[in-house]
Amino acid sequence: MNTFKFSVRPQIHGYDKFSDFIQAHEVGPQDLIFTQRFLYDSFMQETTAQTLFYDDFCGGEPTDIAVDEMLAAIRGLGFNRLIAIGGGSILDCAKVLVLDSQQNVAELFAPGVQPERKAGLLLIPTTCGTGCEVTCVAVLDFPGIGSKIGKGFEAGFADTAILIDELLATIPYPVFATSSADALVHALEIYLAPRANPYTDILCINAARLILQGYKRIIEHGRGVIQQDAKSYLTASNMAGMALANVLAGGVHAIAMHFGSAHHVPHGEATRLFLPAVFEVYFEKQAGGKIADIAALIEDVLGKPAQGESPFGMLERLLAEVVPAKRLTEYGMKPGDVHDYADKVIETQQRLLVNNYVPLSNLDIAGIYNRLM
Ligand SMILES: [Fe+2]
Repeated sequence: MNTFKFSVRPQIHGYDKFSDFIQAHEVGPQDLIFTQRFLYDSFMQETTAQTLFYDDFCGGEPTDIAVDEMLAAIRGLGFNRLIAIGGGSILDCAKVLVLDSQQNVAELFAPGVQPERKAGLLLIPTTCGTGCEVTCVAVLDFPGIGSKIGKGFEAGFADTAILIDELLATIPYPVFATSSADALVHALEIYLAPRANPYTDILCINAARLILQGYKRIIEHGRGVIQQDAKSYLTASNMAGMALANVLAGGVHAIAMHFGSAHHVPHGEATRLFLPAVFEVYFEKQAGGKIADIAALIEDVLGKPAQGESPFGMLERLLAEVVPAKRLTEYGMKPGDVHDYADKVIETQQRLLVNNYVPLSNLDIAGIYNRLM
């Protein structure tokens, strides 16, 4: 490694309860809370802040069309701080909604467009996965071109990212499972990225260890331990997010971005699907590089693999219990789609593919699909 750059932002605050946050940050009528109704009903009814509800515009992950409607709605409101509280979809939308611009999403996502912000921005995750409370990237689905696209907005960095243990209390198990798996993917992919540096390394290895240890506890003690481990998962996903703010993820995300858009699969579910298969290919191609550190970490937490099994086979067995996955055919992918999908990944996801541990060819990507059909 010759040169590197690592930025540290935004501020990160942690609280046990939502009411602690409201008091500490003096949340009031000049603030706009952007969230989902069930979260508002569960935690926020006492606040005097204005509200905008994601579910009034969008049922699943955000499309460019839905965010254009959100932009039209928010431009009629006056507020000093936008406080986004939710999963990755909500936090990503907030990074676009806070921009000081009259442009639509297609125009905002054009190369070189970087508006300033028009208000303060606080990002509060209610899942433990994307780490997007500490990144400036917004990922939206563009059904017109058949792919999800991510763009970093310099003004999309929050002033403060806020981790509140209590907000994990209502997380449905499948959301916990796929979002924490996405954090694990961030940690493992960025550790291997050519642009990784000593700071991202330490964040990634620690995040991966915390998540793997948590998963092992779920297997040993049952799903009830998630709440006890809330701070650990929030911290791990945040650490992986800090790494992601500096170095992009790689091939697992590239393949998942396209697959998620083609079959309407939530982001964390899609990245979890492809993690073990991509890492098996990496391990087959170059077992002696940094991936050996990850193999050692997996063995350190989970023990020795079975005879003839790679550490990533053991990882797949762990994930199969904690974050069960379907076959690609169960989502509607057909064997005849394999080469078209591989072409599309290479065509639309170069931004991510350049961060691969070793290059993945069209044939490599096709082979990954075939393993999972
Ligand atoms: Fe991700």
